[in-house]
Amino acid sequence: MKIIEVQDEQAGGKVGFDIFKEALANDAQVFGLATGSTPISIYNELTASDLDFSDKISINLDEYQGLAGTHDQSYRYFMDEHLFNQKPFKESYVPNGLAEDMDAETTRYDRLIADHPLDLQLLGLGQNGHIGFNEPGTPFDIQTHVVDLTPSTIAANARFFASEDDVPRRAISMGIGSIMKSKKILLVAYGENKAQAIAAMVEGPVTTDVPASVLQNHDDVTIIVDRSAASKI
Ligand code: GLP
Repeated sequence: MKIIEVQDEQAGGKVGFDIFKEALANDAQVFGLATGSTPISIYNELTASDLDFSDKISINLDEYQGLAGTHDQSYRYFMDEHLFNQKPFKESYVPNGLAEDMDAETTRYDRLIADHPLDLQLLGLGQNGHIGFNEPGTPFDIQTHVVDLTPSTIAANARFFASEDDVPRRAISMGIGSIMKSKKILLVAYGENKAQAIAAMVEGPVTTDVPASVLQNHDDVTIIVDRSAASKI
């Protein structure tokens, strides 16, 4: 794992931007994208740049079940707002949180990922070590699946909703098995509340108790952290 410590989120945005730029220069076609507050500074750099993704494909990690893409807390809405409206891709995929048949939706998503192998996967990190919405205990070889969110994730994400009761209880997430097949992985984490998960991910045993620890088994992972997130390593 290559760990890059940066001053703050702005600096992390620039380092992340350079990694996207390098991937484009190396002919990357498929970009795995993430939501949450962490990737925003990278998306800001991308939208302010002249990089062109109009013939590229993006595949997002996850979506809340039950939220329409027009809901302002859906991950589809987030991606439109922060990236796609300003920097369109040829095709951008986000799981459909309103799919009536969830089995069909997870199968569709797996087929999509199989047809478009990921060149670069961007990841944030949950405070409990989750990646995408792969919560602790998730098998490392799992494909796209429907997830019951843990109480800690519901509490952590409540800040984006009017109240904790409004946070969806379930989500659809790309599986760890698919994330690990990406050629290159970039994980970003900022702040004290990520320090424990970063330490467990980097220095702890590879265990499903800390989903992100699986990244120790991947041969091309870059981690961007600020000083607070790196404070326990
Ligand atoms: C959510 C998302 C994750 C994200 C995590 C951290 O649970 N499903 O993909 O990494 O939140 O979010 P933040 O970057 O806002 O701390």
